[in-house]
Amino acid sequence: MKFKTIILASILSISTFVISYKYRDLNHNFANTKEVQDIETSLILVNKENPLDSSYKPSNLVKPNIPFVDSANDDEKFMKSDSARAVEELFNSAEQEGIKLLGMSAYRSYDSQKNIYYNRIRHVGKIEADRYVAKPGKSEHQTGLAIDVTNKGRWFVKSTEEAQWLSENAHNYGFIIRYPENKEDITGVAYEPWHIRYVGKETAKKIYENKITFEEFIENK
Ligand code: DAL
Ligand code: ZN
Repeated sequence: MKFKTIILASILSISTFVISYKYRDLNHNFANTKEVQDIETSLILVNKENPLDSSYKPSNLVKPNIPFVDSANDDEKFMKSDSARAVEELFNSAEQEGIKLLGMSAYRSYDSQKNIYYNRIRHVGKIEADRYVAKPGKSEHQTGLAIDVTNKGRWFVKSTEEAQWLSENAHNYGFIIRYPENKEDITGVAYEPWHIRYVGKETAKKIYENKITFEEFIENK
């Protein structure tokens, strides 16, 4: 009888451990998820735990005056006005320093996120797609504050001069590298040297200098 009780108790604790480990992402709440976020602020947190409503569209989308790759989707060339002006400044400064950046994809509606997500699953499978592409409603591209940039060769990896310039200078224009290397456990997204997010100069500088993620900044704000 005693032996049976021990076995049952062990099975129960192992199952509890396995279930809580499997769903650890869902239990990871950041401080401001308990508050109602101001959807129009440049400090809005959007991630796996903080989705946007499918109907949300930012109020003041404009097309930044920057070069885009030929294949860029016209619907994805918009950003909220402050971030659009900031990205123009960033691209101009890069060019003056001999670094040629190109825009790829900025604002993405809910429908466009759906297309991107399901297309990526078709190409690389769900596990790999989930490391890089947010599920519909969980992409901060929907805020109009983010843009993916690339270079002429469309090979924007860490070792390229364009990616290096961006990681060292983006904060001076109010942007952060939103998904830094080795921080996938915090952001829930693999390293993306090409994805920059507008947060304003003061916040970008703090995040850059302290080498933290946006999630950590929000949690300690
Ligand atoms: N690549 C980022 C995570 C997105 O899809 O928004
Ligand atoms: Zn992106």
